[in-house]
Amino acid sequence: MKKIKVLISEEKINNRLDELANQIMDEYKGKDIVFLCILKGSIFFTVELAKRIKNNIQFEFVEVSSYENNESTGEVKLNKDITQSIEGKEVIIIEDIVDTGRTLAFLKELLLEKKPASLKICSLLDKPSRRIANVKADYVGFAIEDKFVVGYGLDDEQNLRNLNYIGYIEE
Ligand code: IMP
Ligand code: MG
Repeated sequence: MKKIKVLISEEKINNRLDELANQIMDEYKGKDIVFLCILKGSIFFTVELAKRIKNNIQFEFVEVSSYENNESTGEVKLNKDITQSIEGKEVIIIEDIVDTGRTLAFLKELLLEKKPASLKICSLLDKPSRRIANVKADYVGFAIEDKFVVGYGLDDEQNLRNLNYIGYIEE
């Protein structure tokens, strides 16, 4: 059995989500927002953050794949596109973790072609030391060191997403 250690507790996540929600409400006063959730890793973060925000939020979902057996292949593929127009809308991409940054660089380019009024990135986690693509999140929950993390939506080969904290697997 793999042993999982707590890296960021549920309480810490909740406190940080309150702060991020306040920051977003401050910057989007009176505006509708589109949360563009990247499946599957961002579902927990998307829902928990949205519940704390008073603005009207619409939801769109994309699914991309870039990872095979936890090793970045460098290639990003769009498996599922959005279903409604985002033209003229205030869009925030909600991501679980920025690692090499390739996923977000790819998505940003793709989404900008759809002419949103604005496009920002909000990521629960950031591993700045791993960055390859030139992309930066506008809102970050926690910057972490280069560890493979699971829980709160993040998976290890599709498992462990439903942990209510962010953990890492002890070797
Ligand atoms: P990037 O394109 O290299 O930035 O990779 C982003 C995607 O890789 C994330 O959306 C995650 O799905 C996955 N990923 C990167 N690091 C981790 C990790 O530590 N645990 C689980 N998934 C990860
Ligand atoms: Mg992901």
